Amino acid sequence: MKTTVSILLAGMIAGASWASPPATQAPDTDEYQRALHLTPDLNNGRRLYINCVSCHGPEGWGQTNGTYPQIAGQLAGVIIKQLEDIRRGNRSNPIMRAFTSPRVLGGAQEIADVAAYAASLPMTPHNGQGRQELATEGATIYKDNCAECHGKQAQGDPQDRIPLLQGQHYNYLKRQFDHIRKGLRRNADRKMTKQIKGFTPQQETAVLSYVATLSPPKKNWRRPAGSTRTSRSTHAPRPHLRAELKPQIPVSGVFHGLRPIGLNLHQCIHSTTPISKNRPPQ
Ligand code: HEC
Ligand code: HEC
Repeated sequence: MKTTVSILLAGMIAGASWASPPATQAPDTDEYQRALHLTPDLNNGRRLYINCVSCHGPEGWGQTNGTYPQIAGQLAGVIIKQLEDIRRGNRSNPIMRAFTSPRVLGGAQEIADVAAYAASLPMTPHNGQGRQELATEGATIYKDNCAECHGKQAQGDPQDRIPLLQGQHYNYLKRQFDHIRKGLRRNADRKMTKQIKGFTPQQETAVLSYVATLSPPKKNWRRPAGSTRTSRSTHAPRPHLRAELKPQIPVSGVFHGLRPIGLNLHQCIHSTTPISKNRPPQ
């Protein structure tokens, strides 16, 4: 009996380890490096993506209000790094962390698979915008301060795991600047962290408003079927497209995996309030 209880307890402690307070740790270089170099299995990635649908959406487009970022089309290596950082508490993301725990997602191979799948998804160019009247000022700031790392068109750099910023929602970009400045992204780029501390609020709004106007290349888009529209807007993904792209596994499947650790989707989504209190563009 005693043994059963301790086995049970040991199991519970192991299972609950995701809930321990976020520790600042260097990424487990082993798992991280392995994930970067493994050959991904896209079919398995599609299956694992069920863990992501409830927030990032079946298309990986996130939400134009920036609560959830667009992850479709992001560089696979960047997704791997962010998953590792979130998993290890280097990036405060209590909502998503449980979904990246080894128990739910798996190890290096699974991280590589789901990252490759998200990276392969077509992007929406209809991302949330900032203050477009500041975009010209922002373009100059971008060229002088950001292009050397993120690329002229903000296409990112796979070699150095520098994120692609094209098509990202303005409010999300803004929140990341806040998080980087406040040290909530503890494994961010040092040079960038130092650089953005010197920006005035207007410069920051301007540069991020410009970044939000940068579209992914057309070959990476999926426009709503039957639409001839070429202009950009902040519309949510069309309902019929959502249906078309719905994964085969019902979303409720996510919760079967999570029930043992006592999470439900409602709590997850509603607990976003603290981090999404970002002011709308002014
Ligand atoms: C419960 C909601 C939720 C689920 C489920 C979820 N995420 Fe997230 N994810 C978020 C939120 C919220 C953020 C942004 C956090 C922030 O502002 O720092 C995020 C951020 C990310 C980022 C960082 C993007 C960037 O450009 O910096 C990646 C990559 C990501 N998620 C991938 C995934 C993958 C892959 C899955 C499935 C295995 C997943 N997420 C499941 C809520 C979720
Ligand atoms: C020295 C190189 C460098 C410079 C300069 C730089 N960045 Fe970054 N940036 C990075 C790296 C690397 C990351 C990813 C950090 C991480 O892994 O968390 C990043 C992350 C970001 C993110 C978060 C993206 C995401 O998807 O989570 C944003 C937004 C961003 N940079 C915008 C900018 C802007 C705007 C500028 C110019 C004002 C800039 N960066 C300058 C290297 C740089």
